[in-house]
Order: sequence, then C-alpha cells, then structure tokens
Amino acid sequence: MSNIISASLLGCDLANLEKECERAKNSGVDWLHFDVMDGVFVDNISFGLPVLKSLRNKTDMFIDVHLMITKPENYVQNFVKLGADLVDFHLEAAKDPKAVIELITQMGAKAAVAVKPGTDIEKVYPYLDKICMVLVMTVEPGFGGQVFIPETLEKIRKLRAEILRRSLEVKIQVDGGINDKTAPLVIEAGADVIVSGTYIFNADDMKKAADLIR
Ligand code: DX5
Ligand code: ZN
Repeated sequence: MSNIISASLLGCDLANLEKECERAKNSGVDWLHFDVMDGVFVDNISFGLPVLKSLRNKTDMFIDVHLMITKPENYVQNFVKLGADLVDFHLEAAKDPKAVIELITQMGAKAAVAVKPGTDIEKVYPYLDKICMVLVMTVEPGFGGQVFIPETLEKIRKLRAEILRRSLEVKIQVDGGINDKTAPLVIEAGADVIVSGTYIFNADDMKKAADLIR
C-alpha cells in the first residue's frame, strides 16, 4: 500500500489558493492539509472557517483540517459543516477528547487526534478504537519550515506497535519538517500519511517531490 501525501497549504502561495490546490492535485498529491491556528494554542495565526468554505467550493480533494486551537469542541462541527473530510484536534487542547471525537463523527467526518512532540504517545491509546488516525507532530506546532525532530521517530514506532498489537486500522500521520531526507525515516518507523508544506510547494518539480517522499 502506498503512502498518502497531504500537502500543507500553509506552505503554498495563499493569494493563489485555488491554483495551488490544482497544482497539488495535478502532481499526484492525495489530500490537502489545512492548518488552523488561533494565536493561543500556538504562537501564530493562520486561516479558518471562511477560507475553508471558499476552498470547499473550488476543490473536490479530501481536506484534512489540523486544528491548532483551544476549545476544539466549540468549532469542530462548523469545520465539518463547511467542508472538512477529516478533523484533527490536539489532545493537549481538549478537556474531553471522547466528546470531541463524537461531535466530529456524528457530523459525518473522520476524527483524528494530534499530539505535540513532548506529549507521551501512550496518551492517545484510550482513543485508538474511536479514531481513524493519529497525527504525530514532528516539529512544535505553529510554523511551517522548521527542522524535523528525530526523537519523534521512537513515538511513531511505539504507536505502530500498539496499533498492530490491537489489530486496528488507525493511520499514523506525520507533520513537520518532512522532505526527501526525513520521509524515508518516518515511513520506516511506521507513518502512512505524510504532510509536507515547504518542501513540496517550493520544489521546482512538485510531482517529482511528491513521488520522492511517497
Ligand atoms: C505546523 C503545521 C504543519 C506545517 C508543515 O504547525 O502543522 O502542517 O505547515 O510545514 P513544513 O512541511 O514546512 O514543516
Ligand atoms: Zn499541520
């Protein structure tokens, strides 16, 4: 089974969002990764609901929404309503993760839980039978273009072993600092959904870059 590539729109030319999505699609990218930052959970502000709504009218690609926000329970339903196919929320930001997962799945989208590099991977284990994916951050969330943190490889390996042990179908997504050098490392460790922003959007040949990390 080949890996899924999700292009992080944070790394694209946002003034040409529609064209950038077409470029990703034509390059064989599988999903669009939509990073939402609130300036509270992380020290940066990106884009949110109105941009997702406009984007949904312009593309039929699978949209993977990564919420780096506090109180995800207040927003997940709107993100699904406006076009998210999958919603990742941070475990560190949710008071009652099971309730957030239910809000997402009741609305008909897929739910995923994200963890920062410093969060123990065992914290996601109680939710593995309720979600379709775990997002293991491989940089501190908040900014594109950072350097991959190698210590996260051990978390990916540990999570892959737990998923196998319990015979679950849960996917492992990695996000941050992924390029042609780091992709083989995370894939070897057990990742199957690879997010890439800076590397893929800045490549001279996007298709070649997507093929290389896949
Ligand atoms: C970081 C975001 C990432 C980011 C990845 O907080 O969650 O999705 O855009 O960008 P690169 O590939 O540039 O590390
Ligand atoms: Zn992200």
